[in-house]
Amino acid sequence: MSDFSMNDTIAIGCDHGGFELKNEILKHLQERGIKYKDFGVLENRSVDYPEIAVKVANAVVEGTCKLGILICGTGIGMSLAANKIKGIRAAACSETFSAKFTRLHNDSNILCLGGRVIGPAVACEMVDLFINTDFEGGRHQRRVDMIKALEE
Ligand code: RB5
Repeated sequence: MSDFSMNDTIAIGCDHGGFELKNEILKHLQERGIKYKDFGVLENRSVDYPEIAVKVANAVVEGTCKLGILICGTGIGMSLAANKIKGIRAAACSETFSAKFTRLHNDSNILCLGGRVIGPAVACEMVDLFINTDFEGGRHQRRVDMIKALEE
């Protein structure tokens, strides 16, 4: 059992580089009955990823969504933008080990994926791990607190 429950909502967003992968992930969330709020982009057109990143990040910080997923071409631009929002720990990951351990050790609240880097099967496995893994706390809490102090 993870802290994430079926009452919780995932905030999700993408730019044009992540549009197709976002649709695959939405299908995956629907199949599992996981609630999500889609912050766009809703059609495949060029958008500036920071605009989408800030919407998803705000939904997570405000608590309307428990965790977030952001997808651009590499996952990197989205993570850079989201990490500017106080309270966000956004991790750009390309494989399952990091997707799991960024929850366990960093208490990351947004997973950033690259639509031009990974395929849908790996991405969906990463999403499952990210959602179903809880922060370990303990010595990692001190380190996350040090990150939080950097925001002050
Ligand atoms: C858009 O072409 C691309 O730059 C963007 O999706 C992302 O990869 C940026 O980090």
